[in-house]
Amino acid sequence: MTDKYAVIGNPIDFSKSPLIHQSFAAQFGHAIEYTRILGEIGGFAARIDRFRAEGARGLNITAPFKRDAFAYATDLSESARRAGAVNCLKFEGARVSAENFDGVGLTRDITVNLGVPMRGRRMLVLGAGGAARGALLPFLAEQPAELVLVNRTLSKAAELGASFAGAGNLVVCGYAELADVTAPFDMVINATSASLRGELPPVPPSAFSGAALAYELAYAKGLTPFLGAARAAGVARLADGVGMLVEQAAEAFLWWRGLRPDTAPMIGHLTVPLA
Ligand code: ATR
Repeated sequence: MTDKYAVIGNPIDFSKSPLIHQSFAAQFGHAIEYTRILGEIGGFAARIDRFRAEGARGLNITAPFKRDAFAYATDLSESARRAGAVNCLKFEGARVSAENFDGVGLTRDITVNLGVPMRGRRMLVLGAGGAARGALLPFLAEQPAELVLVNRTLSKAAELGASFAGAGNLVVCGYAELADVTAPFDMVINATSASLRGELPPVPPSAFSGAALAYELAYAKGLTPFLGAARAAGVARLADGVGMLVEQAAEAFLWWRGLRPDTAPMIGHLTVPLA
């Protein structure tokens, strides 16, 4: 029987995961079935019970079901536990193993694909929602000199700071305090959802000065207000989250099937010019 996988979300029509996983499978001459599931809010567990009964091997999870997947799992990886959210499940009998590959995919895109090291560098991360939470552990594992996490709602940043205490040199603050930071950041990463609504987080232009990279987690949105502000402040290298999307898929494929696909062709295929 052909191995069955799917991605679940709501909405789900936009998802590139079927295309990405089919192209990975083709690299190895594998035939897999990979479909989209439009999930019903409140109906995650029943729908996935059914999918497993059909012999499914694995599942990717996108908004708004990452917490449902967390609750559904029987075995959580450390990244899933720390992120409080799950973007990938593996089914083996009664066992449902859970991972969150978003952060590791993002880290790999920045350090390997873009060739910008984090080790010993100063990083600024905007946002304290699910996306930022998922990225913190893999970022800190790279041992940046300092990671400053800034959020509009300070209590949420403080909560993240507390839950990652001891994992590395993490400092949290509000946007107003950024004006007082004098040491330049090597990279600025936008993990807020502001760009999805065409908004710009209130980051002062001075936060970009000296940065080698500005990275927007949203993808295929063109030159977002964040990337536009980074360019105006003189940041030479701009990137969006297309590489993160493909790299998290590659981590999932490796975990499910034991083979690491080449990501470059798919990143090239899905890249939309920023300007
Ligand atoms: P996600 O899972 O995509 O991270 P989320 O959990 O809803 O989404 O978190 C959204 C993040 O974007 C939050 O950090 C939010 O800041 P608040 O915690 O202060 O709400 C941030 N955000 C959204 N719009 C923003 C804006 N216009 N300016 C600054 N931060 C913004």
